[in-house]
Amino acid sequence: MKKTFYITTPIYYPSGKFHIGSAYTTCLCDSIRRYKDLEGYETRFLTGTDEHGQKIEESALANNKSPKEHVDYMASLAKDLWKELKITNDDFIRTTEKRHVDVVQEVFEKLLASDDIYLGEYTGNYCVSCESYFTPTQLVDGDKCPDCGSVTKVLKEETYFLRLSKYSDRLLDFIDKNPEFIVPESKKNEVVSFIKSGLLDLSVSRTAFSWGIKVKSNPKHVIYVWIDALTNYITALGYGSDNEDLYQKFWTGGDEVIHVVGKDILRFHAIYWPIMLMALDIPINFRLFAHGWYLMKDGKMSKSKGNVIYPEQLVERYGLDAFRYYIVREIQYGNDGVFTPEDYIGRVNTDLVNDYGNLVSRSISMVNKYFGGTVTLKEHNHEYKVFEEDLRNVAKETFLEYKKNMDEFKVPNAIQNISALVRRTNKLIDDTFPWNLAKDEALKDVLESVMYHLLESIRIITVLYRPFLIETPAKVFEFLGVEENFQGFKNIEFGSKKSYSVVKKPSHLFPRLDLEKESVEIKKLMNVGKPIVEEPKFEAILPEIEFEDFTKLDIRVGKIIECKKHNDAKKLLVSKIDTGDKIRNIVSGIAEFYEPEDLIGKLVQVVVNLKPMKLRGELSEGMVLCGENSKKELFVVEASDELSPGDKIS
Ligand code: MSP
Repeated sequence: MKKTFYITTPIYYPSGKFHIGSAYTTCLCDSIRRYKDLEGYETRFLTGTDEHGQKIEESALANNKSPKEHVDYMASLAKDLWKELKITNDDFIRTTEKRHVDVVQEVFEKLLASDDIYLGEYTGNYCVSCESYFTPTQLVDGDKCPDCGSVTKVLKEETYFLRLSKYSDRLLDFIDKNPEFIVPESKKNEVVSFIKSGLLDLSVSRTAFSWGIKVKSNPKHVIYVWIDALTNYITALGYGSDNEDLYQKFWTGGDEVIHVVGKDILRFHAIYWPIMLMALDIPINFRLFAHGWYLMKDGKMSKSKGNVIYPEQLVERYGLDAFRYYIVREIQYGNDGVFTPEDYIGRVNTDLVNDYGNLVSRSISMVNKYFGGTVTLKEHNHEYKVFEEDLRNVAKETFLEYKKNMDEFKVPNAIQNISALVRRTNKLIDDTFPWNLAKDEALKDVLESVMYHLLESIRIITVLYRPFLIETPAKVFEFLGVEENFQGFKNIEFGSKKSYSVVKKPSHLFPRLDLEKESVEIKKLMNVGKPIVEEPKFEAILPEIEFEDFTKLDIRVGKIIECKKHNDAKKLLVSKIDTGDKIRNIVSGIAEFYEPEDLIGKLVQVVVNLKPMKLRGELSEGMVLCGENSKKELFVVEASDELSPGDKIS
């Protein structure tokens, strides 16, 4: 029976368009998955979106959408992106799906029943952006979040707690007994010292907002987003459902499970998740691989800095394989990496155009020129034999090193192993001067043997590249006439394929890029100064509704009396609006498009019977209707000045 391998990305917050950082984790997982497939494992690969929480609620509002509309749209963008990047995920879980929500509710109730979760009260400094409380010693400059730097707010709320403290010794013991549980080792050490510094019980429910999974037995609480999110790794396998086959196959009865996570979310995965599993009596048979971040020269990517680059832009200009290769190659194992346009172009030119692409095209052209396209393995005793033997040894060593590196998730190192073999193969040409051998008929076998060695080495190189280059290997195998059974690890050994018939005119694999010109082009793409506006799309008309559905909306004319910027949300404005019945406090996501004073005095249209909700601490008692143009800019829909506050709109 095949060994199983289950690999997961974190589920992404669908709060904005995904940049190359999110694409990095997903491409990395996809490459590891493809490698494990070649190794003969039965594999499963999961990704998805983490769709609850205050942050999402707010970004929906800022886009003038309901949270559900917003996450539906963003999840569809994520799915489209992964399709474009040829990601091979078997499943895509969304935390708003019923299959997930029902099980998370059951998990919470189970933990309540076992007294691993209890009801208490919490006062502390809360970071909205990170959805976490911090203790005074963790805060920076008195009140700032240690993770994102935002100003925290002191909140007091009734909340459920998860007893982390009860499990800390067991967790330390587990980490000690499973030295490979967290890799790289440096990251493991950080986690161990964090646990040793003392774990406080974790607040695992919220009452301040409602966009989340409700606690079944006490619905005024929604479940903390991390408890909801982490559970995705097993709900997607059917845990707790009518059909637990996948769960049994890949989790309880599985061989290898790996969660790939960015360094910023390691703590949640290395502490909360195993403790949840211990409390639920589920085996902790997963491992964690924590990777570094893609940064820009001036630090983190952000739209306001104008340094963001999106995967689609690079794929469109330079092709899928160049992007997929670069993205998993550049960040060294365990470290952060810096994206620069020069490095991008340089890496593609060096590794793919000059070394690999060139090797393929010149080898094929020589085989055509000297042997009419067909060569066979030949024995000879010429002094050049030592170069060929050396190449064979390097190929053998390369495979072993490559495997070792891939098994340890050292993807860039494995790619370097391949590059070294490519260089060594190119060197065979420099060592043997085929054009000189061709002048002497007596050396024909020697020349044929050299040609054979080039092609056999290209075949091996191309097999090794299969986890990283998605479209190129099939082309190269076609150029060389490599049958399917020579395209995997089974026949990776040098000499497995005995003869080759190559195509006459191979197409170009990778066009050479002009470093200077293309660096400028990438900089232009990097969104300098202004946010990229999403493709204007005509939004589909929603399904038909009954007239009664429409009459449920109470829309009135309102007059904006006061308006100011929200204290700690850049995109929000807070207005006092006279709607005839009373003066309402209303929060709107339009601060990017209006100065508060522009709105004072305007007659607008307000939905007045929406259930009031709090947005970043500000009560909102209605919604101002806005129109959105194709550039995603919002404008309030004004009412005729023949109308007065409180007049009904229908
Ligand atoms: N929703 C949580 C994860 C829940 S998993 C149960 C989350 N989402 S996220 O969208 O903010 O981040 C998802 C992943 O993308 C994280 O692993 C994060 O480290 C990674 N990256 C975000 N920006 C990145 C870079 N610039 N570079 C590399 N990875 C980055 O956290």
